[in-house]
Amino acid sequence: MAFVVWKDSYSLGNELIDEQHKSLIVMLNDLAEAGSDNVDGESSSYIIRMVNYAREHFCAEEKIMKEKNYPNLDKHISEHTEFIEKVVEFQKAADNDRVPLQELLEFLNNWLVGHILTSDQKFVDYIRSA
Ligand SMILES: [Fe+2]
Repeated sequence: MAFVVWKDSYSLGNELIDEQHKSLIVMLNDLAEAGSDNVDGESSSYIIRMVNYAREHFCAEEKIMKEKNYPNLDKHISEHTEFIEKVVEFQKAADNDRVPLQELLEFLNNWLVGHILTSDQKFVDYIRSA
């Protein structure tokens, strides 16, 4: 059973963004399946892959927001930046084997699902009301 299962309620109705969000969830599940109690070399490579993909995805999202003159763009960008910084912190700590995998998975799950359902959803509401 996957650690996080995609739900239709996570869908924002923008094909590109939804596909990228689904890919992030797949990567989160890959990390969960890597499976050791602490983040080790193997799981660390999954984290790096996820950070790289998240960066690409955030750029794509921010580009659409700019095109639509989204008024909350700056705040949204800082949420993305904070996420990347936090995950990079985890990844660095993982080099010393000090990160319980469960703690990282819970952070990623809560952040991703929370961000999609609140901040990203607000943007979709903005586009729909424009
Ligand atoms: Fe976002």
